Amino acid sequence: MDKFIIKGNTPLRGTVSINGAKNAAVAILPATALIKGKCRIDNIPNISDIKRCCEILELLGAKVNFITPNEVEIDSTNVEEKEIPLDLTKKFRASYYFIGALLSRFGKASVGFPGGCNFGSRPIDQHIKGFETLGATVNCEGGMIYATSENGLEGNSVYLDVVSVGATINIMLSAVLVPGVTTIENAAKEPHIVDLANFLNTMGANIKGAGTDIIKITGVEELRGNASYSIVPDQIEAGTFMIAAAASRGDVTITNCITKHLDPISAKLVEMGVNIEESEDGDEIRVWSDERTTKGNIKTLPYPGFPTDMQPQVAVLLSVSQGTSYLTEGVFDSRFQYTEELKKMGAKIRIEGKTACIEGVETLNGCQVTATDLRAGAALIIAGICADGETELYGIEHVERGYEKIAERFNSLGAKIERVSE
Ligand code: EPZ
Repeated sequence: MDKFIIKGNTPLRGTVSINGAKNAAVAILPATALIKGKCRIDNIPNISDIKRCCEILELLGAKVNFITPNEVEIDSTNVEEKEIPLDLTKKFRASYYFIGALLSRFGKASVGFPGGCNFGSRPIDQHIKGFETLGATVNCEGGMIYATSENGLEGNSVYLDVVSVGATINIMLSAVLVPGVTTIENAAKEPHIVDLANFLNTMGANIKGAGTDIIKITGVEELRGNASYSIVPDQIEAGTFMIAAAASRGDVTITNCITKHLDPISAKLVEMGVNIEESEDGDEIRVWSDERTTKGNIKTLPYPGFPTDMQPQVAVLLSVSQGTSYLTEGVFDSRFQYTEELKKMGAKIRIEGKTACIEGVETLNGCQVTATDLRAGAALIIAGICADGETELYGIEHVERGYEKIAERFNSLGAKIERVSE
């Protein structure tokens, strides 16, 4: 397996452009299976989860043609309802979006269980609750999810017990072509939920309220497509570079982003003494800091709260800030596995239930560490950039699942990351 060798003490300076959002793209690609026609999507991140989505689309009978690595034309005219095997679906989390898409178009779906990062239990009971509320019968056996509907699905109201991005997306997908009106209450409001709704409406759907906690989907006969769409910039990728700029005491301008989506991250960084400047038209943000940040108290929450997908990255900044900080995980059962790796680098972190108590140290020290998931890997890259000495990062396949050309882009800002094949 390949590893990254990261030389430390390299303050990041310069400009970096943000790619399309992974968590929007992995919802929008399955959504193309709803369309009896063609569509063109650009600003797609060139990452392995996207390739996996396309593999499943082709299995279903779609024609997938990459015009460039970041632009694709998909023709789903001849998509059929086929079983999607576990060995394809277990490779990533978003594979379960094909259940909602196939249910909506064909009234049935047979899809293997999803994979995804290990943050403790990640049930899908809210997804199933949504499908059943629309009239489906759902059985889980042998690693497969079987959804059927004898008399077809019908719009209805679903109240989510927990704010769930995946369930909100899956229920939205399942309702698009279903007669009647479906409302999702206590819905997630992340930017990628809005992006999916915008994509579907561009293709002929009738969805209102995305971005609020009540989403209303009025079923339509069919989606004709014959339109194009550009994926929203990635809030978490932008946030990752913001934290890297602050932690390395550099000066980075992040372009092709939506600063509004970054508000929860910017607010916390300013509290900790980081300098932030946003462009007039809200698509660029400059982040700089030439001194050690002060402590922070952060709790991750669904959008517009501080994103859970920024939790490992901000833990690195808190680890080298002044004073004692508290970082509480408010979304998942357990998302602190990566702190064991940071402690190897000299971080002083004590986990108490869902809260990490972090005593800031002057600097971390490079050593051999392993990424346990996508965002943990990004955090360990930031730690290696800030640390004294050299860091060897294993498990980089996790990172490259979600960040396109991550080493090259950090190196363009002055980092010294070398990819080495073991
Ligand atoms: C999505 O995961 C993202 N993945 C995650 O990003 C992100 O961390 C998460 O949303 C929260 O923003 C993709 O979009 C592919 P949830 P998802 O359903 O949909 C509980 C990354 O790094 N829950 O919003 O799985 C669940 O256990 C990844 O890009 C239920 O109880 O997250 C969790 O505690 C990591 N029942 C909470 O809700 C359900 O049926 C939020 O989960 C569904 C979820």
